[in-house]
Amino acid sequence: MPIYSGRMPTVPPEPAPGPEPHQYRQIAESFGTDPERYDRTRPRYPDALVDRIVAASPGPRVLDVGCGTGTAARQFQAAGCTVLGVEPDARMAGFARRTGVEVEVATFEAWDAAGREFDAVIAGTAWHWVDPVAGAARAAQALRPGGRIAPFHHVFQSPPEVVEALAQVYRRVVPDSPFNLSSQLTRSPLDAYQALFTKIADGIRAAGTFSEPEQWRFDWERSYTRDEWLDQMPTLGALTQLAPDKLADVLEGAGAAIDAIGGSFTMQYATVAVTASRTGDA
Ligand SMILES: C[S@@+](CC[C@H](N)C(=O)[O-])C[C@H]1O[C@@H](n2cnc3c(N)ncnc32)[C@H](O)[C@@H]1O
Repeated sequence: MPIYSGRMPTVPPEPAPGPEPHQYRQIAESFGTDPERYDRTRPRYPDALVDRIVAASPGPRVLDVGCGTGTAARQFQAAGCTVLGVEPDARMAGFARRTGVEVEVATFEAWDAAGREFDAVIAGTAWHWVDPVAGAARAAQALRPGGRIAPFHHVFQSPPEVVEALAQVYRRVVPDSPFNLSSQLTRSPLDAYQALFTKIADGIRAAGTFSEPEQWRFDWERSYTRDEWLDQMPTLGALTQLAPDKLADVLEGAGAAIDAIGGSFTMQYATVAVTASRTGDA
């Protein structure tokens, strides 16, 4: 599949016709371009979210789908869990292993539980790259009765000045991109993400063996200097595959916008889990 063809739900996703995010495999598996930068710059998950998932799971065995460099996995380890990661990008998996996370290299759809049982299946900002129906069915097979499925996503809202400048330069530099970065100007990222959360919940319902899905939301904020945000930006799905000159143009546009509002800003985050517990037979 070409990298950029037609429209796709963006990140933040939109309920647009066309392929679903998980069908864009080249973007889905592009995060290992620079695992060190990814791990250094991507935000951790709220401790309250980790604690709530741990408390609502019947034991400590956690499967972390799309574990990437191990961001969420290490937080669950610190909370007393044993964690197995599943990650299709060998570069990300290699980084996670070096930090002490056990990882098997596979897409979750193709991964084989081989009879192993888990108390929780989590995914940190990764379930949008997984087929929501096949993924929930696979999670149901890997979970013991009472086990919890809990994919969660960071939703973030940059200041409008930064969104506008970024969208403008992105449209100029990558006119054929399926990512619509200006969608945040017309509706809130949380509204845009709600379509994704609904699809995740529908996938969980389709498995036929979970309780009714709930959403758990944790609001927080973090301030970024210009340099801190520009350091993280190349890890975003819309930018991982840009040629260096195009990426430099995009970063320059975003940097100028941050300079114009004083050189730093506060990012509003909501981290949202869609979660249910396994009831019947998988
Ligand atoms: C945005 S990163 C999130 C990584 C990590 N969980 C974190 O919180 O930082 C998404 C990850 O999902 C992985 N991924 C993509 N498609 C996947 C699939 N079908 N099954 C499992 N993981 C997948 C990517 O390789 C990438 O490492």
